[in-house]
Amino acid sequence: MCGIVGYIGFNDSKEILLKGLEKLEYRGYDSAGIAVANEQGVHVFKEKGRIADLRSVVDGSVEANTGIGHTRWATHGAPSKTNSHPHQSNSGRFTLVHNGVIENYDILKREYLQNVPLKSETDTEVIVQLVELFVNDGLGVEEAFRKTLTLLHGSYALALIDEQDKETIYVAKNKSPLLVGLGFGFNVVASDAMAMLQVTDKYVELMDKEMVIVKKDEVTIQNLNGEVISREPYTAELDASDIEKGTYPHYMLKEIDEQPLVMRKIVQNYQDENGALEVDSDIVKAMNNADRIYIIAAGTSYHAGLVGKQFIEKLAEIPVEVHISSEFGYNMPLLSQKPLFVFISQSGETADSRQVLVQVKEMGHKALTITNVAGSTLSREADYTLLLHAGPEIAVASTKAYTAQLAVLAILADVTAKSRGINAEFDLVQELGIVANAMEVLCDAKEDFESIAREYLAVTRNCFFIGRGIDFYVGLEGALKLKEISYIQAEGFAGGELKHGTIALIEEGTPVIAIATQDFVNLSIRGNVKEVAARGANPCIISMEGLEMDGDRFVIPEVNSLLTPLISVIPMQLISYYAALHRDCDVDKPRNLAKSVTVE
Ligand code: F6R
Repeated sequence: MCGIVGYIGFNDSKEILLKGLEKLEYRGYDSAGIAVANEQGVHVFKEKGRIADLRSVVDGSVEANTGIGHTRWATHGAPSKTNSHPHQSNSGRFTLVHNGVIENYDILKREYLQNVPLKSETDTEVIVQLVELFVNDGLGVEEAFRKTLTLLHGSYALALIDEQDKETIYVAKNKSPLLVGLGFGFNVVASDAMAMLQVTDKYVELMDKEMVIVKKDEVTIQNLNGEVISREPYTAELDASDIEKGTYPHYMLKEIDEQPLVMRKIVQNYQDENGALEVDSDIVKAMNNADRIYIIAAGTSYHAGLVGKQFIEKLAEIPVEVHISSEFGYNMPLLSQKPLFVFISQSGETADSRQVLVQVKEMGHKALTITNVAGSTLSREADYTLLLHAGPEIAVASTKAYTAQLAVLAILADVTAKSRGINAEFDLVQELGIVANAMEVLCDAKEDFESIAREYLAVTRNCFFIGRGIDFYVGLEGALKLKEISYIQAEGFAGGELKHGTIALIEEGTPVIAIATQDFVNLSIRGNVKEVAARGANPCIISMEGLEMDGDRFVIPEVNSLLTPLISVIPMQLISYYAALHRDCDVDKPRNLAKSVTVE
C-alpha cells in the first residue's frame, strides 16, 4: 500500500509534499516522511504515526525546491521511524520512496548486497542501495536506476533523488499506481491525482515497467530499454471540494450523506437521451454470452457482490458465483464453459483482485471491472469497465461506494434482463428514485441512530447482526462496518444458522441487531430474535414499513424488496459511525487499515 508524492519546481516543496501526503493518508498512515534537496544537501524528516506527527518534526527553516514524500502502511518491518520512508543509500547520496512490495528483495540482498550493511528491515532499502552500488561500479545514475528496475520482481511506484543533481526526480512504476502531474515551471509525482490537485489538474498516466525522468520543465517517459515514449496528458476531473470535508467532522459522515445524490448521479449517467437505462452494448453482449458469471471482490465490495448475485440471477436469470478474491487464485472452482468475470472494487487497485484478473486474462476469459476510479489498474486491465460515479471515497470504511456498487449492479442486471426479453416487474429508474428519497429520510434520522449506538454499543465488547435472505448480506456488511471503525467484535449471521453454534456466544445483554425487510422471512427472523432474547440478548430490530411490529427499534421507509440493501445498510453505517464516536475511535482512519489494499 502506501502513497508517494514528489515535487520539482520553483516553490518550496515541503508544504506541497505534506499537503499531498495528507490527501494520500487513506493509502496508509502508520508512518510518514519527506526528503527535500537544496544547496546544503538532502534533508530527511520522518516520523512514526500520521502526517500531523511528521509535520511536528519538519524543520520549517529548510527551503528546497525538490522533494519526495511517503505515507506508509507497513508490509516489511514494523511501523517505526527506522523503517519509514524515505530510505537512503549508505553514503546518503540517493534517497528513495517506494509504494509496493519487492518480492525478491532477499535474493537481491544475497546476490548483490552481501557487503552492504542495511539499516532497516524493509524491502525498499534494497532498491536504493542497489542504485548506489551500480553507480559506484561506474554506471551513470539513469543507467543504474534502469539496471536496478530490471532486477526487481514485484510491485513498485518509486521516486528517487540524487544529492548531486537537485534538478531531477527519477520515477518508475510497476503494478502500483503512479501519475506524473504537469505544471508551468514545475512538475509533480503522485500515487493519486487527488494528492496534487492543489497544484495541477493535468496528469500523464504511467504504464507498468516505465521509468520517467522528471525535471521542473521536462518529463521524459521511457521503457526499460531506454526508448522514449510519448503520451498525452489528461485533465483530472475531480473537483477539489469533492476531497474536502467541508463542515463535516468526518469524511465518513459526509460520504454517508452523499448517498442520495450518488444514486441520482448514477441514474443520470446510465440513462440514454430518452431516459431509459443503458449500459455499453459490448458489456451487455458479454453478459449474454456468459453461461455463468463469477463475481470477484474483497471486503465491502464482496458484500456488494453477494447482493449483486441476487440482482443478476433474479432479473437477468444468469447463474452467478461470488468469490473472495484472495481465495480464488489458489482455490479456483471448476469453471463453466463460457464464464464472464466481474471484478467489483471501489479503488480498482486491490492486489488480491488484480492477481485473479491477471490469472483469468491469461486463461483467455473476458473481464468486467465495476469501480469508482477511472483509469485504475483493474479498470485498465479488464476488457470492460462500469464506473460508480460516487466521487472520491476518502474514509477508510466504505459507505457510498457500497450503495453505488449495488445501484450499478442493479442497472447492469436490469439492462441485461431487458436485452434477453425478460420483462422487468418494475421500472428501475423510478425505484432508484424512491431509494434516493428513502436514503434522505434515513440520513435525516441521525439522532435515532446515535441513540441506538449509545444504548447498545457504547460499552459492549461484541455485537451480532442477523438477517435472512438478502438481509443476511447486509448484516455481514453491518458487522464489517462496526468492527473496522469501533473495534467491537462484530459478526453477521444468517438468522437460521445461529442455533447451529453461534447462539452459544449470546450472554446477558449481548446486542443483536436484526434486519427485517423481507416479507417471506419476516416471521422466521423474528423467531430468531426471540431465541436470542430468551438467552439474555439485547435485540434491536430494524424493519421496513409494512413489515414492522411492536418493539421494532427503527422502521426504514418502504422500497422495492429486491433493493432493500441499498437503504437498510444506512442504519448499519450510521450506527457504526456513532458507536465509533462514543468509543473515541478514529472514524476515518481506523487502526491497522488502509483504504487501498495494494498488497496480496
Ligand atoms: C471496508 C472496506 C474494505 C474494502 C476492500 C476492497 O469498509 O472498505 O473492506 O471494501 O478492501 O477494496 P476495493 O473495493 O477498493 O477493492
